[in-house]
Amino acid sequence: MDSRAVLTLFVLSSILLFKDNVCVAYKKTVTQPHVLFILADDLGFNDVSYNGRNHGSAMKTTTIDKLAAEGVTLGNYYVQPICTPTRSQLMSGRYQIHTGLYHRNFYPDRPQCLPLDEITFPQKMKDSGYATHMIGKWHLGFHKKECLPTYRGFDTFLGYYLGSEGYFNHNRSDSVEGIKMNGYDFHRDVGENLTPAWEYNGQYSTFVFTQEAQNILRQHKPTDKPIFLYLPYQAVHEPMEVPEQYTEPFKDKIKDKTRLQLAGIVSCMDEGIANITQTLKETGLYDNTIMIFSTDNGGPTILHYNNWPLRGAKGTLWEGGVHGVGFVHSPLLPAQVQGTVNKAFIHVSDWFPTIVQSIAGGQLNGTKPLDGYDVWDSIIKGTSSPRKELLHNIDPYFVKVTNITQLPSPFTPNIHAALRVGDWKILTGNPGVYNGWIPPLESGIVPIQPVMPEGKNIWLFNITADPDEKYDVAYKNPSVVKMMLAKLAEYYNTTVPVLWPDPDPNCDPANHGGVWGPWM
Ligand SMILES: *[C@@H]1O[C@H](CO)[C@@H](O)[C@H](O)[C@H]1NC(C)=O
Ligand SMILES: *[C@@H]1O[C@H](CO)[C@@H](O)[C@H](O)[C@H]1NC(C)=O
Ligand SMILES: *[C@@H]1O[C@H](CO)[C@@H](O)[C@H](O)[C@H]1NC(C)=O
Repeated sequence: MDSRAVLTLFVLSSILLFKDNVCVAYKKTVTQPHVLFILADDLGFNDVSYNGRNHGSAMKTTTIDKLAAEGVTLGNYYVQPICTPTRSQLMSGRYQIHTGLYHRNFYPDRPQCLPLDEITFPQKMKDSGYATHMIGKWHLGFHKKECLPTYRGFDTFLGYYLGSEGYFNHNRSDSVEGIKMNGYDFHRDVGENLTPAWEYNGQYSTFVFTQEAQNILRQHKPTDKPIFLYLPYQAVHEPMEVPEQYTEPFKDKIKDKTRLQLAGIVSCMDEGIANITQTLKETGLYDNTIMIFSTDNGGPTILHYNNWPLRGAKGTLWEGGVHGVGFVHSPLLPAQVQGTVNKAFIHVSDWFPTIVQSIAGGQLNGTKPLDGYDVWDSIIKGTSSPRKELLHNIDPYFVKVTNITQLPSPFTPNIHAALRVGDWKILTGNPGVYNGWIPPLESGIVPIQPVMPEGKNIWLFNITADPDEKYDVAYKNPSVVKMMLAKLAEYYNTTVPVLWPDPDPNCDPANHGGVWGPWM
C-alpha cells in the first residue's frame, strides 16, 4: 500500500479520534478499509421489509434489514429516477446536465458512453491504492472499447454492458429500424482483455455475481491492495425470472404473478448479500470493510414494484422515483451511530468524493468540478449535510424528441425539471404519467390517481413536512417559487448539449459473433 495513503488516513483518523473523543472511526489497525458498494436495480422504496412491513408489503429482506439496523440507515437519501443517470452520477460525481446524460437511459443501438473525459470514481480509487473490481450491470456505454468498465477504472469486470437481459440466458433482443437483433451480453474483462463469458449461459445472475464476489474476497491476501468492489446486481429489474424456491414462501400472501416473482427476485438477492457478508466474516475482512447499499431508482409501479407511501414511480421526479433506500454498514462505524437512522441530505453523486476522500484517504485532483459533496462526517457523526440543494434533473426533451440538437432557451416552467433547496422541492413541466400513490397489491388498499390539471406546470412541496407530496403549496408561496425558478434557470445555463446520437444498425450482434459488444 502507498505509504502516503496510510499516513493521510492516520492523520484523518487521529483528527476524528481527537474531535470525537469517543469515536473509533478507524480502530486499531490504521489501514485503508475495503469498500463494498452494492447497487440494487429498480428496488422500490417500499420493497425492503424495513420500510415495507409498516406499509402493507409482503416483501422480505431479512439480511438487508439486519445490516441496515446494525449500521446507519440513510433516511434522507436520493438517487436519480432511472438506471443510466444514477450510474453516471455515481461514476462521475456530476449532475447529468454537466455530462449530457439528462435525457433517458442508454439504449443498445445508440453509440452513447459516459464522456471519456470524465475521471471516474474507480479511477480515483485505483489512484488511491485500491484493487478495483466490478461485478454486474454497467449501462454506461459499450460502442467503443474505451467506454467499458476495464477502460474506466476497473481492473476486472464480470457482467453485462446493457441495461437489461434474461437472468438465465443473458440475452438481449432489440429492434433497430425494423431489424430484429438478438445477442448474448455476459463478459469477463481483465484490463484490455475482453472475453464473452459463454460458460454462464443458463446460470441465474444473482448466483453468478454472488459467487464471483465471494471468490474475490477469498483470494485476497493480507499483503494485497485493499479491495474496492462495485457490485451492481441485475436484481431486482425485470424480466421477472427467479428459481421457484424463492417465490414459494410468498405464495399465500401474494396472488399476483408478477409481484410474486418480484418477491422471489428480492429475496434471492437478499440471500446473496447474506452469503457475501458470511464470506467477509470467514475471510476476516469484515472488521475492516465498509459496505454501502443503495438502490438505483424508485420501483416501476406498472410492474407492481412499490414505493408507497411515496408518490410516483421509477422514471418520475416525484419522491417515489428519487427517494432511495440506502444504508452504510461497518464495524468501523462509531458505536454511537450504529443502529441509527441518519437524516442528513445525501445524494448518489456524493459517494465519489465521500469514498475517495474520507474512506480511501485519496485525492480528488484532476476531476471536473464535482456536484457531489463529501458527506462522511454527516454519516459517522450525524452532523448536518454539506449538501443544501439537489438538482433532481432538467430534461428539455422529456415530452417530445424533436430537434434535439438545439437546447431550447431560456429556461421556462414548461421544461421538465425538479430541484430541492432545503425543505422545498419544485417540479416543473410535464411530470409524466405516473403521478399517483400506489399501495402494494397485497395490502388491498386502493391506489389514488390524482387529477392532473391541463396546463399546470409548477408544483411546490415542503418535503420535510410533506414527504409524500400531498399538498402543493406553490400558490401560497410565490416568493419561494420565484427563487426556485431563478435557481433552475441558473442550473439550466450550465447545461451541456445532450448526448443522443441516432441509432446505428451496425451494433447488430449478428455481425459480432452473436455478442453485444464494441462495434466502433
Ligand atoms: C448462498 O449460499 C448457499 C450455501 O452455499 C447456496 O446454497 C445459495 O445458493 C447461495 N445463494 C446465493 C443467492 O448466492
Ligand atoms: C493527482 O496528483 C497526483 C500526485 O500529486 C498525480 O500523480 C496524479 O497524476 C494526479 N491525478 C490526476 C488525475 O490529475
Ligand atoms: C440467445 O441469443 C443467441 C444468439 O446470440 C440465440 O442463438 C439464442 O436463441 C438466444 N436465446 C434466447 C432464449 O433468446
